Amino acid sequence: MCGIFGISGKIAVSSVDLCIAGLKKLEYRGYDSSGIALLNEGQIEIVKSCGKVESLEKRVLHLKDLKAVSIAHTRWATHGGVVEVNAHPHIDNEKNLALVHNGIIENFYELKLYLKKNGVQFLSDTDTEVIAHLFSHFYDSNLLNTLKRVHEKLIGSFAVACIHKDHPNTLIVTKRDKPLILALDQQKGQIIVTSDRNALYEGEFQTVDLEDNQIALINENTLQLYDQNGLITPLQFTPLFVKNTSHDKGEFSHFMLKEIHEQPHAIRRTLEGRYDLENGQILLNLPKNFKEFFPKVSKIALIGCGTSYHAACIIAHFIEEFVRIPAQAHIASEFRYKEGLTDESTLVIGISQSGETADTIGALREAKRQKAKIFCITNVQHSSIIRESDFHLMTQAGPEISVCSTKAFTSQLLLLYLLTLEFYQMKHGFLDQGNTWIQNLRTLPSLIESVLQKKSLIQEIAKQTCQFDKVLFIGRQYMFYTALESSLKLKEISYIFSLCYPAGELKHGPLALVDENTLTIALLGHAPTFQKTCSNVQEIQARKGKIFAIAQKNQNLEEISPDFAFKIDVSIAQPLLPILYSVVLQLYAFYVALEKGHDIDHPKNLAKSVTVE
Ligand code: M6R
Repeated sequence: MCGIFGISGKIAVSSVDLCIAGLKKLEYRGYDSSGIALLNEGQIEIVKSCGKVESLEKRVLHLKDLKAVSIAHTRWATHGGVVEVNAHPHIDNEKNLALVHNGIIENFYELKLYLKKNGVQFLSDTDTEVIAHLFSHFYDSNLLNTLKRVHEKLIGSFAVACIHKDHPNTLIVTKRDKPLILALDQQKGQIIVTSDRNALYEGEFQTVDLEDNQIALINENTLQLYDQNGLITPLQFTPLFVKNTSHDKGEFSHFMLKEIHEQPHAIRRTLEGRYDLENGQILLNLPKNFKEFFPKVSKIALIGCGTSYHAACIIAHFIEEFVRIPAQAHIASEFRYKEGLTDESTLVIGISQSGETADTIGALREAKRQKAKIFCITNVQHSSIIRESDFHLMTQAGPEISVCSTKAFTSQLLLLYLLTLEFYQMKHGFLDQGNTWIQNLRTLPSLIESVLQKKSLIQEIAKQTCQFDKVLFIGRQYMFYTALESSLKLKEISYIFSLCYPAGELKHGPLALVDENTLTIALLGHAPTFQKTCSNVQEIQARKGKIFAIAQKNQNLEEISPDFAFKIDVSIAQPLLPILYSVVLQLYAFYVALEKGHDIDHPKNLAKSVTVE
C-alpha cells in the first residue's frame, strides 16, 4: 500500500536517485502509481506516473543533478481511480507547496465543501488533496503553526510529509495512527523520512519513530521535534544498521514458488533454540511478568486478517482442545467495533506477518483500551505491532515478498503451536508427552520436503482442473480452517470464485450450488471425522460434482473414488496437519494461477501490506 520517502538535511547526492531507490524498495507493498516533488530554481516541480516506479524514473531524468529537499510516494488507490492526477504529491492552487500522505482522511468531504466555498479548485478525487489546500488556507509563513492547525482539523489516519516554496531547505512531517520514521545518516548528514524502514539504503542510521501528533521540522542544520502543543520534544534515537539483502528469485520463476520452497528452512529457524528435547520442554523464554499474568487469564482472543486470521482460527481450536482455556479467533476489522469482548483477564494475541496491518493494529488498540494484555506474533522486526503490544515473539520466516502469504503462515502456525504448548506447561507445570510433541514439530520440515517432492503431481491436477470456475472447499475441525486458508490462496492468485464450508454444513444450503461444473476440494485429514466427511463427499458426487480429495496415506479413498487425489505420507499429531495440507494447496493455487497466466506475485487489486482500514 502507500509508501512515503522523503529526504532533507545535508543532501550529498542526487535527490531523485535517492527517492527512486527508496520508492523501489517500497514497491513490495503494492501500489499503482508514484510521484516525486522537489524545488527546482525556486519552483515546486512535480513528476507523477501510473504503473511501475521504472516509468517514473524515466520521467525524472532532467532532475537528476539536483540535491534538493524532496518528497516521494507510492500510491495504492483508495479515493479516486488509478490516474496520474490522483497520484501523489498533491499541490495547492498557487503551487506553493507539495505533500504526500498515507492513510485516509475521513472528513475529507466536509473539508472539501468548506474549501470549495472559499474558492479552492480541486484537481483530483483524492482525500489527500484537501490537506494541501487546507495547508495553503491556514498558511501564515510559519510551517509549524500551519501544520499544527491542519492536524487539528483532520479526522482519520495519516502520515504526511510536506515541502513549501518559501522554506526551500525544509521538510515538515506529522502523523496520526500511521507509521513515520526519521532516519539520520550521521556520516552523510542526510535525513530520510519514510513510512517503512525497508525503504532505507544500506548504512547506519539513528532513527526516531514519530509518536502520534508530533511534528518534525527538518532542514540542513536542524532536526526538531514538537509535541501537539508546539513545544520542543527531546529526540530519542535508536541505532539501526541496515544491511541490504537482495530479494531475488534464485532458481525459481516466482517469489511465491520460492517462498513455498523456503518453508522447511523457515520452520527450522522458527523452532531453533525454542525447545529442550531431553526434558521435553518448550523454551520460549517468556518474560516473568507474562508468567505472573498467565494464571489470571480467563479467555484468549486471537486476532488477525486474511491468512493471519486463519492461523488464529487453527490455534484457537488447539488452545481450547489442549490447554482448555476458552479461545476465539476474531477478524480484526470486526473485533475493533465490538464492545465488551475483553477485560483485564483477557489475553489478546495479535497475529500479523507485516506487523503493519491497520485493522489488526486498530483491534489491538481497542483491546488495550478495554484493559486486555496484548501479545503479538510478527515476522518483521521494529514493526508497529510490536510497539502496540505488551509482549511479542518473532517468526523467522525471512522477508516474504509475494503478496500471497505462504511461509509466513506456516511459520506463524509453528510459533503458535509452541506458544500453546508453553501455555499448557505454565498451567500444569510440565508438558504432557513433551518429547513426542517436540519430535513431531521437528519432523515437520522433512514432511514438507516430501510434499514438495511430489509437486509435479499437484501441477498435473492443477492442469486438469484449472477450467472449473466454481470451487468449493470442505473440511471439518482443523481441516475446515485449513480449507479457509486454501480457498483464500486460490481466490487471490487464480481469481477463481471459491467458497469454503465445514463439510457438515453443505446440506444446509451450499449443496444447491453443486453440479457437474463444480469442483470440490475435500480436505480429509481430520481422522475422527474422516468417515463423516466421506459421506459429505458422496452427497456431492450424487449431484454430479467433481472431487479432488486430499488425505493421508493410510486413509482408504476407495469408497469415494475421487476424480483427483493427493496423499500425504504422514504420521503426525492431528493439530499439526494444517501445515502439510496448506503446503499442498499453496502449490495447487500456484499451478492453477500459472496455467491461467496471471501475475502471481502481484495479484490484481491486492497489496502486501494493508495499511488502511
Ligand atoms: O501482514 P498481515 O499478516 O497482517 O496481513 C494480513 C493479510 O492482509 C494477509 O494475510 C493477506 O490475506 C495475504 N495476502 C494472504 O495471502
